[in-house]
Amino acid sequence: MADGVYDAIIIGGGAAGLFCAATAGRRGRRVLLIEHAEKVGKKILISGGGRCNFTNREVSHKNYISENPRFCISAISRFTPSDFISLASRYHIAYHEKKLGQLFCNGSSKQIANMLVRECDVANVEIKTNCSIAKIERSENSFICESSEGSYHSDSLVIATGGISVPAIGATDFAYRLAKQFDIAVIPMRPALVPLIFDRDSWGFSQLSGVSLEVIISNDIAEFRDDLLFTHKGLSGPAILQISSYWREGEMLRINLLPDISKDMFLSEKNIKKLEIKNALAEYMPKRLSDIFCERMELRGNVSALSAESSKSLYESLTNWQIKPQGTAGFHKAEVTAGGIDTRELSSKTMECNKQKGLYFVGEAVDVTGWLGGYNFQWAWASGYAAGLVC
Ligand code: FDA
Repeated sequence: MADGVYDAIIIGGGAAGLFCAATAGRRGRRVLLIEHAEKVGKKILISGGGRCNFTNREVSHKNYISENPRFCISAISRFTPSDFISLASRYHIAYHEKKLGQLFCNGSSKQIANMLVRECDVANVEIKTNCSIAKIERSENSFICESSEGSYHSDSLVIATGGISVPAIGATDFAYRLAKQFDIAVIPMRPALVPLIFDRDSWGFSQLSGVSLEVIISNDIAEFRDDLLFTHKGLSGPAILQISSYWREGEMLRINLLPDISKDMFLSEKNIKKLEIKNALAEYMPKRLSDIFCERMELRGNVSALSAESSKSLYESLTNWQIKPQGTAGFHKAEVTAGGIDTRELSSKTMECNKQKGLYFVGEAVDVTGWLGGYNFQWAWASGYAAGLVC
């Protein structure tokens, strides 16, 4: 057991904590980073299907969901995607744009995790893994962290323990419990970037599991164009994950299954008119989906036999398919946690709590939730950097 005094203690060795620690360490601060898991950066390692979608070329506050959508502006404008790209380039990490500005490693997510650990090394950050915090107390000028490895004191304490999604790899509600201890408001948490599930008896599309197509999906506040994937229990794929962050229980979603087909184009080509309806629809969407739609709508016969009215209503049904999810697949499947530390409690410039000088919250623990596409890591880097410059 060792005791120690530091300038800054950072709890949580994920994306935001590692980056914050390296930034503070480079300023000459004595930094201790505490991680309860056996290694740091576990979410980075599994991110982006193993290739880490580490940022997006275009990042603005419009890509984030928060009770205060403008809160993130200061941090994301002071540490930008170009800043992170420059850092990755200094480490010779090759990357590519997949789509919609999303930047992934050509190699593996490990490169990003290793880079951050190296940045911490260079900045003389002390990293303690397998270290759990029993208690945090505040004395007049410092914080005291009682841990399984000893008692540590610091002027600044940065909470970078993330959200509660995917507890299997170490997520905890530590940030929210600490907020309660210091009387800091928390916006209720909900799973985001998460598959949607449907009532088993009424859904009726389970046999389409594995079918995917590009759609436009919307509710009253957001709209996304991306791929949708049918699953055994409901819907997933990037389009669904995106809209899930805006979806609230009981709400309907609208799906346009024919995003590239105008009303005038629909079933109008000469060769299509001769086809059976389900085969004609298969020209626009996966065959298994057109079969099931025709079966459910009892559409039989050739396109030529469809009245103008029926054709119009079929078009309407396919471009304005209304669905009501039963719920989400929950925190164990959600990529992120929406809600969290109420941004009104924090300085947008430094992430320091207004009521508790020296206490900071960064990353996913804060009520700032990015879209799918590298925005969550960009928030982790930017908020970690903002706190790292002052803690
Ligand atoms: P993060 O969760 O990364 O780190 C928190 C750290 O704190 C963890 O190491 C945890 O073990 C530790 N900790 C928790 N409780 C503790 C305690 N009590 N004591 C000590 N340590 C504690 N985003 C993106 O932009 N691009 C992508 O490609 C992906 N891909 C992706 C895939 C999957 C499967 C998931 C689940 C998530 C993503 N994300 C993503 C989201 C992204 O991973 C996430 O937003 C960031 O990792 C958040 O960074 P934080 O540092 O805030 O938390």
